[in-house]
Amino acid sequence: METIVIKKETPIGWIYLNRPDRLNAINQQMIKELRQGIDEMVYDSDIKVIIITGNGKAFSAGADISRFKELNGYTAWQFAKSGRELMDYIENISKPTIAMVNGYALGGGLELAMACDIRIAAEEAQLGLPEINLGIYPGFGGTQRLVRLIGKGKALELMLTGDRISAKEAEKIGLVNKVVPLSNLEQETRNFALKLAEKPPISIALIKLLVNQGIDLPILAGLNMESLGWGVVFSTEDEKEGVSAFLEKRKAQFKGK
Ligand code: COA
Repeated sequence: METIVIKKETPIGWIYLNRPDRLNAINQQMIKELRQGIDEMVYDSDIKVIIITGNGKAFSAGADISRFKELNGYTAWQFAKSGRELMDYIENISKPTIAMVNGYALGGGLELAMACDIRIAAEEAQLGLPEINLGIYPGFGGTQRLVRLIGKGKALELMLTGDRISAKEAEKIGLVNKVVPLSNLEQETRNFALKLAEKPPISIALIKLLVNQGIDLPILAGLNMESLGWGVVFSTEDEKEGVSAFLEKRKAQFKGK
């Protein structure tokens, strides 16, 4: 693969965006390779958590603007659709994902981070959706995901101004979960991932499904899905292990069964 690097550090799967001289701008090839890289982690049962980050000084400065001049109405639609479908896929995988935001997360870069379950950012990072300054708007799911994440007022402010905000500001409005100094970013993110890796994978998969799908359903349908899912978790070995471990005052060892 040319545009990403993958590294397995069981139980963590690392994916590095790897076009540092272009601030990890996302082109069609990166979209394709990200899908392959994520698939490789999804189908490896030893990988419990996936971390996506950027090589160099950026997480990603967004879609590759240098290719925009070639696009026409149809190819622009198809490019946006392929990027957006990648983000949908990432959001809906059953394993937890963390965006380790090491620097700029702009445009499609922020949209990628928003498709992950958790965002941990370096203090130095800057985030934003600057597409409006190019005479366009976010096309990899940003208009829909940002409003669900931080609410309408702040989402509109960020998209209408195109302004970049600091990681601290992003934490304040709920756009990132945690901000740490760049020097601690990798270790803090790894620790967070290891914590998730100890949790029961079937509960994780169901929580993700209920939150991601439930948010767009009438509440009664979402609540019924939640109740039905209880039937699923109570049929797992992990539920028996979790309850037994509590009663026996020991740490549970979950197996994803
Ligand atoms: N697409 C293509 N190339 C990009 C890019 C993008 N989204 N973002 C940065 N690059 C390229 C630059 O053109 C530059 O290439 P060059 O060395 O051939 O001139 C290189 O990456 C380094 O970027 P540079 O702008 O010199 O770095 P900087 O530190 O001065 O500024 C940013 C960093 C992020 C503020 C600036 O690059 C920027 O505004 N990028 C575009 C962000 C954007 O609008 N994203 C939405 C895309 S839809």
